[in-house]
Amino acid sequence: MRSAVVASLGLAVLTGLVAPAQAAGSPPHKPPTSGPEVKKPVAEGYGGAVSTVDLDASKAALGVLRQGGNAMDAAVAGAATLGVTEPYSAGLAGGGFMVYYDAKSRRVTTIDGRETAPKAMTSTAFEGIPFNDAVTSGLSVGVPGSVAQWDLALRRYGTLSLAQALRPAIDTAKKGFVVDQTFYDQTVQNAARFADFTPTAALYLPGGQPPPVGSVFRNPDLARTYTELGKRGPSWLYGGGLGAEIVATVKKPPLTSGSTRVARPGLMELGDLKAYRALERRPTKVTYKGLDVYGMAPPSSGGSTVGEALNILKAVPSTGRTVGLHEYLEASRLAFADRNAYVGDPAYVDVPLDGLLSSGFGKERACLIGATALTSPVAPGTPDGAYSPCPATGASASSDKAEKPEGPETTHLVATDRWGNVAAYNITIEQTGGAGIVVPGRGILLNNELTDFTFGPAPGDPNLPAPGKRPRSSMAPTIVLKDGRPLLAVGSPGGATIITTVLQILVNRLDFGMSLPEAIAAPRASQRNSATTQAEPAFIDRYGPQLTALGHAFSGVPGPPVGEIGAATGLEFLGHGKVQAVAEPVRRGGGSALVLSPAPGKGR
Ligand code: GLY
Repeated sequence: MRSAVVASLGLAVLTGLVAPAQAAGSPPHKPPTSGPEVKKPVAEGYGGAVSTVDLDASKAALGVLRQGGNAMDAAVAGAATLGVTEPYSAGLAGGGFMVYYDAKSRRVTTIDGRETAPKAMTSTAFEGIPFNDAVTSGLSVGVPGSVAQWDLALRRYGTLSLAQALRPAIDTAKKGFVVDQTFYDQTVQNAARFADFTPTAALYLPGGQPPPVGSVFRNPDLARTYTELGKRGPSWLYGGGLGAEIVATVKKPPLTSGSTRVARPGLMELGDLKAYRALERRPTKVTYKGLDVYGMAPPSSGGSTVGEALNILKAVPSTGRTVGLHEYLEASRLAFADRNAYVGDPAYVDVPLDGLLSSGFGKERACLIGATALTSPVAPGTPDGAYSPCPATGASASSDKAEKPEGPETTHLVATDRWGNVAAYNITIEQTGGAGIVVPGRGILLNNELTDFTFGPAPGDPNLPAPGKRPRSSMAPTIVLKDGRPLLAVGSPGGATIITTVLQILVNRLDFGMSLPEAIAAPRASQRNSATTQAEPAFIDRYGPQLTALGHAFSGVPGPPVGEIGAATGLEFLGHGKVQAVAEPVRRGGGSALVLSPAPGKGR
């Protein structure tokens, strides 16, 4: 398999199917004369499919499938390309979580590429530091996980080498991409802090301004970094020269002369990079409506929280849309109370995962759902295996920790191939724009993933920092199987709203009978055990009066972008080899769904 694909990729380069490398600074590439040039949110067909937030990344991933690569190859190539075209959400200095269905073994597995805290980081490292100061600092930079994750993922399940999987991203970084409104807006939002770092300003504020919509944006430094990474391999980052450059940047962020910003130095050493490992983990699993729902296990809270909420929902037979939405909000409220109390890095805390995902615990928690909304903060339950039908606990918790702001950060892609493998892949550098610090000469933005830790003081909190620990995530790439075969794959960006977005899409699709495109496009609301439920304006318009009558209170989504929650991508397997790829029609400017062939037979 590997040699056949290698040969086919080699031939593709020789025959011009894959554009050969261009010199940095070359003029904008001419659009190909054929192929999808317009973003479309829905595509149906055969032989393979992808969906990302971005046309260039979707095309890169589809190109890999077309040349014989599998879903894992496409997922890695797509992620690396998102590192070019969505650099404020993804990149080689970030991390991610992937849920993967391996068609050969018919097993679902997951690959954890979460960043880690440096060895020198203690539980009090963020105490007393204002959140916004930590956001733009070396202190918040976690040991990057993406490259180790790509390497592990390709070696276990792919057919391409890392160097081959990086090729589309290298081409995109060299040739450039057309700046759209989303990229422009995100640059504007970050402009003040980008201006404070010399290499960031040089790359993302050329001439002191964000690149205008419609201009071509190139990142030749990143093209060279990816090329060298392909040649030298992951050890170049994990203990080698690139690692040393990252450590130097983290320890002494390259402030622009005259900047008054206090950019706290980080604690990362080369030894932290050497010690980093991506991990293959067992997925979370719950059954819902006869379907098996697989998600990401801790240190992400995605799988356990979506799973617990589904277990709660299956214990409360709903009648109609208003009651169904009320129960969706209540299930999410309760599951978030448990997430916040129990979930952290399982190498450091004893996460009661079996309890959180048991039907008995879901049933016990469901007892608390009444005809009207609970008052948040609700207290966590006790997932200890001893469940009573309806305990008298769980009303209100004594304190409500301030929630950190949840932005549109992170991105998600899906890919499937002709063999039936499926990838659901969340990638992130944490906040939109990460730490705001570009590594000089490398074209990569550093993550600020360690801000996902609880800042404290918070005695007993499972998500306090510790040496080598992975911060709790909300990323929730999800694959649903029916009779052991893929039915759905879905995921979204959005910080902690990722969990509610994925849950709401599943509820829309499986309970309310929407198609997947409808389920993704539908207006969203996010209840995370807080006094008010954040909701998009269309949700409040459509359901606000009925749900307010049941005791729910709504607040807007501060953004940016104001009024939007998430930016999902998904797949539905329609039977007889047909697959529907779905992206957002509107949110974040809309995404790009592509299939290999609209008709059966080709490439199969
Ligand atoms: N940094 C976003 C998350 O991990 O949930």
